[in-house]
Parts: sequence; structure tokens; C-alpha cells
Amino acid sequence: MFKSFRQKVGFAKRRFIEPPCPKRADGQVYLHIGCGKKNLPGFINIDAQPFPHVHVVTSDIARLDAFADGSADLIYMSHVLEHFKRAELDGILGEMHRILKPGARLRLSVPDFDKLLEVYRLSENDVRSMHNQLMGSQDHPYNIHFTVFNRRDIEALLLAAGFSGVRPWDPWDGSEPRVKDRSMKVMKAGDQAIKISLNVEAVK
Ligand SMILES: C[S@@+](CC[C@H](N)C(=O)[O-])C[C@H]1O[C@@H](n2cnc3c(N)ncnc32)[C@H](O)[C@@H]1O
Repeated sequence: MFKSFRQKVGFAKRRFIEPPCPKRADGQVYLHIGCGKKNLPGFINIDAQPFPHVHVVTSDIARLDAFADGSADLIYMSHVLEHFKRAELDGILGEMHRILKPGARLRLSVPDFDKLLEVYRLSENDVRSMHNQLMGSQDHPYNIHFTVFNRRDIEALLLAAGFSGVRPWDPWDGSEPRVKDRSMKVMKAGDQAIKISLNVEAVK
């Protein structure tokens, strides 16, 4: 649905040419799940959509069998979890926990429901002001949202999946992944600019 010609060519190319997984100079393994169009150097890109830079094409991120137990140093996932049904979340977060090394981090970004409510209120209760961030743009099958989160909820899910601690992370602080993506999403509402992403990292 609504794919540009360039994107169609890119998807066709990926069917024949599998990019080699990057090997970092420091020997660490970084995964970028739900990378979309963002190609992060040094990260293994994973997505359901076959962009040319996607190393692992899969829609089942609760079963990443290519990665052994305790094999990854960092997993990054920005604006992906909301694309899954609530009943799938425990399986997905459990899989991230399995793959990470002890002490390693899962960095997550999701739309913050509390911030979307602020946008809605400041926009005089215009439902359309927050529709795309709440429900997804719905322009293709992998761009529909099924779940909402706030800080308390995501923390409870991560702790239930076995993570030992959950803390905020700041995408502007210069640490990995150093990419301008939806973790930095700012929405204008009324006379305010609202950072609508809930950015947390969980430690195994
Ligand atoms: C909103 S985009 C986020 C892209 C990028 N991470 C960012 O923050 O700008 C969500 C991404 O998740 C991917 N995605 C959605 N459902 C998926 C699934 N079931 N399995 C794998 N990837 C999925 C989509 O293909 C899309 O690239």
C-alpha cells in the first residue's frame, strides 16, 4: 500500500541481496529492532519490511532464533512495541531478555500516552491532533498501533519480563544509538512543543 517506486525497487533488491551483518571493532553486538528506514552503522537491523539495509527480515520478533542466549550488548527499539497486541508483549520482552548479556541494556522508545493526552487537551480536544501517534498512520499493515503505554505500565512490563531495573534515557545525550528518529519526536500543540516519546532503558 502507498509504496513509492524507489521503495518497491529497494524491497525487490533486498529479496536477492542479503546485507552482511556488521561486525563492530569492539566485538559487541548491537541490535536495532523495527529499524524502518533508519540504517544505524554497527547495528544489526531487524524489521518486517525488507528495506535494503535490513539484515534480518521478520515479523515475529518474539522468536529471534538467529541470536543465542546472552549474545547481545544492546538492543534498541524505537516506536515498535505499540505495533503489537498486548498479549504479545510478554513474549517479545522475554525474548529481548533472553538475547541480552547479563548487565546489558534494552533501550526502548514508545509514544507516551500521558503526553498524547497533553497534546489532545492543548489542541482543544481535537482527536485528529494525536490520531497518528495513538493509532498509527495506518498506511500499511506494519503501521497500525494496538497498544498504549505510560511510564508506570512499561516499567511493570519490563520488570515482569525479568529486567532488574528501568530508568529514563535521553536520546539527546549523545550515547548510542545517536540517531534522529521517533524517540526525539516533538509535537506542537497550542503554543507548546511537547516531546511525546517515552524513552526508557531496562537492564538485564
Ligand atoms: C514507526 S516505525 C519506527 C521506525 C524507527 N525505529 C523510528 O523510530 O523512526 C515502526 C517500525 O516497526 C516495524 N514493525 C511493525 N510491526 C512489526 C513486526 N510485526 N515485526 C517487525 N517489525 C515491525 C515497521 O515495519 C516499522 O519499520
